[in-house]
Amino acid sequence: MSLLKIAPMGNPVLRTVARAIVDPTDPEVRRLAFDMVDTMIDAGGIGLAAPQVYEGVRLIVFSTIDERPGGDGPPPETITILLNPEVTPLDDAIDEAFEGCLSIPGIRGLVPRPARIGYSGWDLDGNRIEREAAGLHARVVQHELDHLDGILYLDRMADFATLAFESELHHVMPRKE
Ligand code: NI
Repeated sequence: MSLLKIAPMGNPVLRTVARAIVDPTDPEVRRLAFDMVDTMIDAGGIGLAAPQVYEGVRLIVFSTIDERPGGDGPPPETITILLNPEVTPLDDAIDEAFEGCLSIPGIRGLVPRPARIGYSGWDLDGNRIEREAAGLHARVVQHELDHLDGILYLDRMADFATLAFESELHHVMPRKE
């Protein structure tokens, strides 16, 4: 495995629109995808987009937890590698939740996003992937797809008063009664 260097905010690669992958089965694409998974796990992230490792191609990796109830032990975690992804909101519902980003370490902010989405793309064997998602799953896919278009979560924030260092996050988190 190889760990890749993560581009920090300010690097132009994070503000550049990534190009489509022509051949999903290209061994170079496979190597990049597997290195991105290793890098994401090592960095403690739940998603990573190729521009974050200085590769301007439309490839994202993310981890999702099966939120269906039932069974013993921790819920199973699934890692998805998705090429040339597309996202469509399923309705007008908007969710707000705090997000962070491996390219913007140490801070988080509240980000509104469509709550329920359909998304699609291809896997490394060239098979079509089509899914629907809500909650954190929908959020991570949208966050990572934004990276392919040069968009950071800060650009999506509605209120910068919610932007905080992780140590201060409890001050800006909405209180739950
Ligand atoms: Ni990010």
